[in-house]
Amino acid sequence: MYLYPLKIKDAMRIADLEFEPFIEQAEIEMAIGRIANAVAADYKDRNPLFIGVLNGSFRFVAEFIKQYEHPCEVSFVKLSSYQGLTSTGIVETLLDVTDSVEGRDVVVLEDIIDSGRTLQELISLFSGQHVRSFAIATLFFKPSKYKKEYQINYKGIDLPDEFVVGYGLDYKEKGRELNDLYILKTT
Ligand code: IMP
Ligand code: MG
Repeated sequence: MYLYPLKIKDAMRIADLEFEPFIEQAEIEMAIGRIANAVAADYKDRNPLFIGVLNGSFRFVAEFIKQYEHPCEVSFVKLSSYQGLTSTGIVETLLDVTDSVEGRDVVVLEDIIDSGRTLQELISLFSGQHVRSFAIATLFFKPSKYKKEYQINYKGIDLPDEFVVGYGLDYKEKGRELNDLYILKTT
């Protein structure tokens, strides 16, 4: 009997642009498992406070917590620097951490680090708050775009300097629901 493939992955149009499949969900979630194991090796007995950066990190945070499996707490901040395809350079703090972070081992969970501006904003947000320790974990990283000095503590998957959507990441607020990562079609 001829079996249809369960899922045919095609290029797709999101708003005014064409994107093509790039990294499958299974591969993304294996990378999240590697981050969770590395973080657990350092924090499993410290009841860390994981802080997700909304909106893009909601899927990463959910999967990370699923694979972390040690006592922890979870909170979110909301920052925004991108409008469409390019970073505006203006990072707005739209939603602050409400609970006290004093004395806590804070690990920020970012969906993607590109220019590093959002990261810099996060560092200044937490500096002076008397945290016990501070670390950054990012699911995706664009090494050729990152120009800051701060050493990122945990990195999932390195990406080329191209715009991507899916797995929480958006283009004009669209595409966050896609299970796989899609990349902007250049041809
Ligand atoms: P940065 O401040 O330039 O490092 O940009 C980080 C933020 O920009 C991320 O939290 C994302 O919301 C967004 N961003 C950066 N690159 C991409 C991309 O390729 N696709 C979708 N959003 C992105
Ligand atoms: Mg965005």
